[in-house]
Amino acid sequence: MNRISAARRGILATVLLTSMALVTSMTLAGAAGAPESNSNGCTGGQLGITKRPFGATPDGTAVDVYRLTNSHCMRVKIITYGGIVQSLKIPDRDGRLRNVVLGFDNLQDYVVNNSPYFGAIIGRYANRIADGQFTLDGVTYELPKNNGPNTLHGGPMGFHTKVWRARVVGGQDSVGLKLRYTSPDGEEGFPGRLETAVKYLLTEDNTLRIRYRATTDEPTVVNLTNHSYFNLSGEGSGAIYDHVLELNADAYTPVDPTLIPTGEIAPVAGTPFDFRSPTSIGARIRSNHPQIAVGRGYDHNYVLNQPPSGLGHAASVFDPHSGRVLEILTTEPGVQFYSGNFLDGTLIGTSGRFYRQSDGFALETQHYPDSPNQPSFPSTVLRPGEEYDTTTVFRFSVRG
Ligand code: BGC
Repeated sequence: MNRISAARRGILATVLLTSMALVTSMTLAGAAGAPESNSNGCTGGQLGITKRPFGATPDGTAVDVYRLTNSHCMRVKIITYGGIVQSLKIPDRDGRLRNVVLGFDNLQDYVVNNSPYFGAIIGRYANRIADGQFTLDGVTYELPKNNGPNTLHGGPMGFHTKVWRARVVGGQDSVGLKLRYTSPDGEEGFPGRLETAVKYLLTEDNTLRIRYRATTDEPTVVNLTNHSYFNLSGEGSGAIYDHVLELNADAYTPVDPTLIPTGEIAPVAGTPFDFRSPTSIGARIRSNHPQIAVGRGYDHNYVLNQPPSGLGHAASVFDPHSGRVLEILTTEPGVQFYSGNFLDGTLIGTSGRFYRQSDGFALETQHYPDSPNQPSFPSTVLRPGEEYDTTTVFRFSVRG
């Protein structure tokens, strides 16, 4: 009797939760989102956004997933944990939809396996800070070391582990999500209370535009990025060696054995780092070059040939198998090209397949790694009264 009523209560609760989720979906952005499509094609859709529960963190904080759609078959899922781009679907040259970013299908995996930083917002400081310390205005700050002797991606409890507050935004030709997080003074060793906002905007021209803004109440350092890994043939489909990369950079910053820039700005000409003309990622990834050896492949910051202000073209990637093209524009001076070297075949991704080395690549727009310790690099210092404001654009298209 007790068991029966417990089961009934369970069914009632499920029905109630399902209807609540549906109601939530209907009330957002005035649209119920795009109709579902099967894996072989896109049945159209409309500009819209829906929200659903995506579980809870170990401390019980609820996490949501927002699904952004446009009328050209682009679908992006973003979760409030880490501001993670959990899925990004885009048609290939024949209209077939595939998810082109690496990730997991459940929150637990993101919480437990956060070292690849799949799709996450990275902060306060993207990439490495040498020896986990820097000095600002005469004060030395100690940071937790989570990557050998260095601090990587804001420390072990960086922005990729935070649950962000979400608000739906957008206009006539766009739909978006504004995520906010307040990082308290001293968090992960960084000074100043940092008010951070990251806006994801999906537009009708198959573009995901990300704007990062921050203010502080004490001098600090900031370097924010998104750590999506792309595989334009589809997540879980194998290595990205055939992807053809073009990088708008005449120079890069070589690194020491712990992947900290040596301070040198080295020309790419005549090296496997030269992607000024479109070249497949795999063509030179096994070159006997000392910098390829240090990174176990590409894991380097490129010095972009940027316009004096505004958005500049950073990179484009073409996948000959699917015809998908990704173009990246940014206001940032650098981009970290990481060829997924440390993916080691131990994690099972969204579609249930193991990720192995180079199954995805990341192009993380950023200020240069370790800038707080490298006075010759563009500054990452943010002071009270100033605003950190950068934009990066991921634009998708297809080529025949
Ligand atoms: C770093 C890599 C690191 C990867 C995942 C990249 O931004 O440069 O060295 O392995 O992120 O953590």
